[in-house]
Amino acid sequence: NGSEGKDRDLVVVGTFIHALGLGQVEILEETALGVRAGKIVFIDKTKNLADRLKEFSITPDKCLHLEKHQFVIPGFVDSHAHAPQLPFMGTGSDLQLLPWLKKYTYPTEAKIASNHEYATEVYKKCVTRTLKSGSTTVCYYATIDVRSTLTLVDIVESVGQRAYIGKVNMDRNSPDNYIEQTKDSMENTRKFVQDVIARKNSLITPCVTPRFAISCTPELMAQLGDLAQEYSLPVQTHISENLDEVKAVTEMFPDCQSYTDVYDQAGLLGERTVLGHGVYLSPEELQMLKSRGSGISHCPNSNFCLCSGVLDVRRPLQAGVKVGLGTDFAGGNSPSMLDAIKRGMEAAVVTSLNASEKEDGGERLSYKDMFFLATLGSCQVMGLEGVVGNFTVGKDFDALVIDPKADDSPFDVFAEETIEERFQKYLFLGMWRKNVRSFFSCRH
Ligand code: GUN
Ligand code: FE
Repeated sequence: NGSEGKDRDLVVVGTFIHALGLGQVEILEETALGVRAGKIVFIDKTKNLADRLKEFSITPDKCLHLEKHQFVIPGFVDSHAHAPQLPFMGTGSDLQLLPWLKKYTYPTEAKIASNHEYATEVYKKCVTRTLKSGSTTVCYYATIDVRSTLTLVDIVESVGQRAYIGKVNMDRNSPDNYIEQTKDSMENTRKFVQDVIARKNSLITPCVTPRFAISCTPELMAQLGDLAQEYSLPVQTHISENLDEVKAVTEMFPDCQSYTDVYDQAGLLGERTVLGHGVYLSPEELQMLKSRGSGISHCPNSNFCLCSGVLDVRRPLQAGVKVGLGTDFAGGNSPSMLDAIKRGMEAAVVTSLNASEKEDGGERLSYKDMFFLATLGSCQVMGLEGVVGNFTVGKDFDALVIDPKADDSPFDVFAEETIEERFQKYLFLGMWRKNVRSFFSCRH
């Protein structure tokens, strides 16, 4: 009701930095942003503040004046992360994808699926870590187990993080202690989906999560495609991450034209389908993704750690495919989107150096592009571009207050530098604990 909305009025006065599109970063100094019931109701120059307060009947005591050196950015949006893989993050980069799954991933996920106490401990630590890294929105994979995946939902709910959360499906090519029957996989997924929907928490959405084509039968994938359609749910899976994986998929699905076609035939490619990696997609596959409205989560840290390859993210972008950024921990060794931005820059350098003039996808991507991918880009892939990702009127206000002069800040600031230089320093040198002063929206 109206009075409840007014109790939560807030006006933040200071500097705002956000992305409007690829390479389009806007720096708004001396600006006031008004929030009512969690939604942005105005963003305007400070000189118009008195008029705006009057217009929205907000009292001046609701104004929070930030210090001149501080700035506000949208909360980061991690479009690909594996909550149960936290225990082995930072280890296991000796192997490539398929043996890595066997040796590190499946045993850890199996333990979490079977030991509820352990699952609770891991998920609490995981959510604390993503949130403390500045990710106000995360697209999480859990395990094949419903009960502990619902515990992950509880934990995410308790801190007020925005999330897509998926119970993983795998009904073949998986270890004996970590595999499902097709029928159980579907029944349990339906149970999970219905339970999450019944909570009516607008911040948390169940996500249909076939692990990848190798571990799912075509029957399972097709039924999951139907389920996503029935409940209008987002989908997340992995695609074209590693050459051995692509070869295996091609051999397993001789009737499909490509890896992308495998998912298309199952009806899994929709406008809220988040495809992790996409390193080796052909131009035809990119065209198919564009026509379906599906997007790619670029996971440069993981692609380096597992020696998967280096995605030239300009290729999907130029093909008109939506692209976001993901940590993919623990394939990647960091839960932080600041790290993903740095790794994304390294991938941009490598692909720019490697591209022949003919196939060069244009200019090398900049820190502004990476900031876009880490915020609005990921939102576009998740179908949340109308909800969060920048400071447009009507969106929810999920934001971080950055303090470059915080005690023990890992970088120095100088009076002579511009706000743009300070913003770059934060992206390349900043750290959560030191530089994020507070969150808006997350109740942590
Ligand atoms: N492909 C299938 N499962 C996984 C996973 O857990 N991590 C990564 N990086 N790729 C996968
Ligand atoms: Fe992954």
